[in-house]
Amino acid sequence: MKLLREKVMNEGIVLSNQVLKVDSFLNHQMDPVLMREVGAEFARLYQGEKITKVLTIESSGIAPAIMTALELDVPMIFARKNKSLTLRDDILVEKVYSFTKQETNEITVSKKFLSNEDRVLIIDDFLANGEAAFGLARVVEQAGASVVGIGIVIEKSFQPGAKLLQEAGYRLDSLVRIASLENGTVTFA
Ligand code: G4P
Ligand code: NA
Ligand code: NA
Repeated sequence: MKLLREKVMNEGIVLSNQVLKVDSFLNHQMDPVLMREVGAEFARLYQGEKITKVLTIESSGIAPAIMTALELDVPMIFARKNKSLTLRDDILVEKVYSFTKQETNEITVSKKFLSNEDRVLIIDDFLANGEAAFGLARVVEQAGASVVGIGIVIEKSFQPGAKLLQEAGYRLDSLVRIASLENGTVTFA
């Protein structure tokens, strides 16, 4: 995606060898025109796959996910993050560990929004270690539904998530792939 690459090149700030700041169009201020293109691209990639739900995790996944769901004409669900939650029987719960934040969150989705007939497209803004994507996939599988694919806006290919998801058999579509953030520079894969 040309527009997305340009945004990353022109507005992305390399904070370290690991972290790219994109708060002017994705993580704080959001660019609706870019999000519309992102949604159209994921919808194009998954047309004919009979997607019934788009699933993401709050908060930065919501914008690309809602635009994708709009294009596919299906509902979008965002998993909620909770530090800890009293167990309830009407929710699907999975633990997600963040290496970046060194903490474990529980992510939850109400059982009423996912059934065993659903064909789910998972969307997220970043892919690093893949913990969020695996957690979302486990939520889908817990509901007996199918993970049709995982769509990522920005993949950091030098971190293990992409490889791990593909090794686990998931279809992965990343709109931009970053090979390195070394020397303060974004190098695309
Ligand atoms: P993982 O799911 O792939 O294992 O990633 P990780 O736990 O490391 O990610 C923790 C949070 O940091 C996630 O956001 C993720 O989107 C974000 N993140 C990871 N790498 C980068 C990066 O290079 N740049 C930016 N800007 N974000 C990154 P989150 O805590 O869930 O927050 P949000 O969705 O509310 O924004
Ligand atoms: Na995210
Ligand atoms: Na984020």
